[in-house]
Amino acid sequence: VHWTGEEKQLITGLWGKVNVEQCGAEALARLLIVYPWTQRFFSSFGNLSSPSAVQGNAMVRAHGKKVLTSFGEAVKNPDSIKGTFAQLSELHCDKLHVDPENFRLLGDILIIVLAAHFSKEFTPECQAAWQKLVRAVAHALARKYH
Ligand code: HEM
Repeated sequence: VHWTGEEKQLITGLWGKVNVEQCGAEALARLLIVYPWTQRFFSSFGNLSSPSAVQGNAMVRAHGKKVLTSFGEAVKNPDSIKGTFAQLSELHCDKLHVDPENFRLLGDILIIVLAAHFSKEFTPECQAAWQKLVRAVAHALARKYH
């Protein structure tokens, strides 16, 4: 993936304002609510029986923060995304057996969360840069599948 200086700026400029704990929690909660089949990977997380249960679930919140923090590595090193997520790709494939389609879904959910939080500031140009980033991360996470 090639990044222009403008794209990098749009990504880091917005990332500096992102509350990773809040947006991470919200993104994972939305994934579990909007695409309920993703809940099966998180059966150890306790009560996911309703949208409010998912949103109030402390394990969901903590894991959402962990995931978005990890995603932040892509923001910091956009030119080495494949290497950054190589180990996580193995984990999600070999150990967790997560269908890679779900990485795309979570990426799109993250875009929606950012749009909801930043509204006007999340311009079409900004969305385009972020869309490229979430696609690159999903691609990197899916790379070790066999
Ligand atoms: C664990 C990142 C997407 C399911 C993890 C961990 C990280 C991570 C950093 C912790 C690894 C460790 O403990 O060493 C990401 C990133 C994603 C992503 C960056 C996409 C942007 C997904 C999706 C699913 C998923 C879409 C399922 C629908 C899991 C599960 C665990 C995990 C089940 C283990 C949770 C536990 O029991 O602690 N992921 N993940 N991940 N991920 Fe992902």
